[in-house]
Amino acid sequence: MMWKGRFEEDTAQVVLKFTQSLDLDWRLYDHDIRGSVAHARMLGAVGVLSKEEAVQIEDGLNEIRREIRDGELKPFERLEDVHMNIESRLIERLGPVGAKLHTGRSRNDQIATTMRLYLRDSFLDLQSALLLLLEAFLDRAEKHKKVVISGYTHLQQAQPISLGHYWMAWFESFLRDYGRLQFALSSLDECPLGAGALAGSTLPLDRAMTSRLLGFERPTRNSLDTVAQRDYMADYHHFASLFAVHAARMAEDLILYTSQEFGWLKLPDSFCTGSSIMPQKKNPDVLELVRGKTGQVLGHMMDLLITLKGLPMTYDRDLQEDKRGLFASMGTVSGVLEVLPPLIVKTDVDEAAARSALAKGFSLALATDVAEYLVVKGLPFRDAHWKVGKLVKYCLEKKKHLTELTLAEWREQIPETQPDIFEILSLEESVARRNTYGGTAFVQVAAQIDQGKERLLEKTKALEAERNRLKEHAL
Ligand code: ARG
Repeated sequence: MMWKGRFEEDTAQVVLKFTQSLDLDWRLYDHDIRGSVAHARMLGAVGVLSKEEAVQIEDGLNEIRREIRDGELKPFERLEDVHMNIESRLIERLGPVGAKLHTGRSRNDQIATTMRLYLRDSFLDLQSALLLLLEAFLDRAEKHKKVVISGYTHLQQAQPISLGHYWMAWFESFLRDYGRLQFALSSLDECPLGAGALAGSTLPLDRAMTSRLLGFERPTRNSLDTVAQRDYMADYHHFASLFAVHAARMAEDLILYTSQEFGWLKLPDSFCTGSSIMPQKKNPDVLELVRGKTGQVLGHMMDLLITLKGLPMTYDRDLQEDKRGLFASMGTVSGVLEVLPPLIVKTDVDEAAARSALAKGFSLALATDVAEYLVVKGLPFRDAHWKVGKLVKYCLEKKKHLTELTLAEWREQIPETQPDIFEILSLEESVARRNTYGGTAFVQVAAQIDQGKERLLEKTKALEAERNRLKEHAL
């Protein structure tokens, strides 16, 4: 082991097993090698290594990358982590030249660099997957923009809305999540290399050069902060937590709407499962698991924050554990993102069932419309609210819908009513007339969808441009 110069005893076997991080960091080998290649090139450029040595190291690292990719090189637990395994293989191959790679570098700035490179790629993949989910909502919104369902508050029927409007509500939530992921990407966009163990280096390292080679915006500004902080991970967790909350909350809706009691939303058979005993069952297990996995994602955020909160400046070995919850969370989020878009795209509506579900509460669903109609006739809103409330009571007693009342009955209850009252008493009218910006009117929903498409296209183009930019920094 490379750090053993000052030790008199061998490391205990249990300690090796307890401190190794290969189960977490072996997957980082490719990104670790990229960081090392940039570091070696920089050492060659500033004259700490000769040009030949730098080239030899880079070639050696590329060979090792191939060995690992092809499964020829397996890690040794006694070598603790991905960094030491790669370095010791390099020394095995190149001898003393290989022993020069770690000049001016610590595993503390190394792991910070490796993680940022790895997360940058992973976050871009998550963004691609998230775009597919957003597309799925646009697809359903387009298909269902003319379909009228009940909107709910307090899980009680409230006002009729366009189903397209409902899908676009989730579009907005998940688009904000996309923005939070973008923020996590921007918060990792500084290069740690050259921060060293904590204080920088006595050697003339060109930090701007390694940063440029690896495609970062700039080098980090403070070496202590660099090896101590994991904000960019916390920023990911914030994204993931809200994403999980949104996904779970939407799953809960769909589970409710497809239950027999609501019964107007239809999930695709291919995304449901049956019961081993009850032949009639079609269960929304996928959505239940989307909901069920949320707690873990939230827990992983707490895990990191709790790890960080008591840590003395700067690097502490506790930080090695930052990866465990992070990778678990990323696995869960990408799993959810794999299964949701195809489920959403195949989710359909039973329009007649949606309508009859609404008709049951028909008197209530149009009550606000009547109150607002009376406001236009000159009544203060509070008076109108009171009178319509009385009218609803009358309807409930007489077991009549608002549409079934005669003009005489209307006038008896509310003298201000005119014959034009009958023009507003339809679900379609009710939706169409909620024409405020961002409201549920069909034209508003169509406008939301159009803008949504444009916003999605913008994100898609920016993501593609970022991927192309990073190709030049692949190393
Ligand atoms: N494996 C460590 C981590 O993931 C990096 C190594 C730093 N170790 C150290 N003893 N300074 O954080």
